[in-house]
Amino acid sequence: MSDGKKSAPEVAVIGTGAIGSALVHRLLGSGYDITVWNRTESRATELVAAGALPARSVREAVSSSTLVFLTLKDYTAVEQCLTQLDMDLSGHTIVGMYTGTSSEARLAAQRATTLGAHYIDAGIQASPEMIGTDTATILYSGSRHAFEQHKTTLQLLSKPRFVGETPEAAAVWDLALFGVWYDAQLGLLRALGAAHEAGIDVVEFSHTASTQLGHVVTGVSATVSEMQQATYPPGPADLTEHLAVVRHLIELRSGRRLGNGGLPEVAARIEALIADGRGDEGLTATVG
Ligand SMILES: NC(=O)c1ccc[n+]([C@@H]2O[C@H](COP(=O)([O-])OP(=O)(O)OC[C@H]3O[C@@H](n4cnc5c(N)ncnc54)[C@H](OP(=O)(O)O)[C@@H]3O)[C@@H](O)[C@H]2O)c1
Repeated sequence: MSDGKKSAPEVAVIGTGAIGSALVHRLLGSGYDITVWNRTESRATELVAAGALPARSVREAVSSSTLVFLTLKDYTAVEQCLTQLDMDLSGHTIVGMYTGTSSEARLAAQRATTLGAHYIDAGIQASPEMIGTDTATILYSGSRHAFEQHKTTLQLLSKPRFVGETPEAAAVWDLALFGVWYDAQLGLLRALGAAHEAGIDVVEFSHTASTQLGHVVTGVSATVSEMQQATYPPGPADLTEHLAVVRHLIELRSGRRLGNGGLPEVAARIEALIADGRGDEGLTATVG
């Protein structure tokens, strides 16, 4: 992370929960003037004691600042704060820093730009204690101009990564990345659950499961290349062979707490491709 210095812009942080507080501490430590507002006033007391300026309303916080972070729980909270702003926000940049959907990012951008502000949507790939370190990545999308204008400040928080000029690009990246983790972790949990129920030593099983996860990681660039070239070599198994395994897996997972993970849809997709004469292709064909 680069070192900060006392300089423009004036920054406001709306929402001083875990992420908002981490931002405030990092920016105060870099010499910034920070105005804070939190719905529950007492939750900002410690930050005010540390040097942040308290605002009496969202409106007051935004008026005093050219760069405004909305570090809030969700889009509902973002919307409730944005609707309190009924003034001209030309020259202000609003950063919506929360986990939300594509349509929510578009709505937030629409509201902010209607008021004349630049809008940046942010996806946080970090926990609060990572803010201000090189281990944190924050994804940004929307106004490239505003991103470039405030890059020095954003670099204090994490490795900033601009992922697209549509407001929703950061939300898509953010959620898709969470999806990679959930699919892998829930796949592991399903496997451990099935092994445990069958009386198998889960510690011994987990070593082989780790190797399986490693195969996914080492195959990432080949998979991407297949998608880009729209060619789907079978690799270790073609679709006909995959279908047989997927059907067995549906049976293994039948009646279990975490369900079958959407495998019937996968089987139906493979069946359609086989019916189309593509049974000798590889698994990447399912998204082609
Ligand atoms: N913490 C993490 O590790 C992490 C990691 C990645 C992404 N995120 C995402 O980052 C966002 C913030 O997370 P966080 O951990 O900072 O959450 P948090 O500690 O629960 O803080 C949530 C903030 O939102 C405010 N808020 C909630 N509803 C509101 C409303 N209707 N109007 C005004 N303010 C409202 C809360 O105010 P009150 O104090 O008044 O309740 C609080 O300031 C979330 O979208 C979360 O999913 C968090």
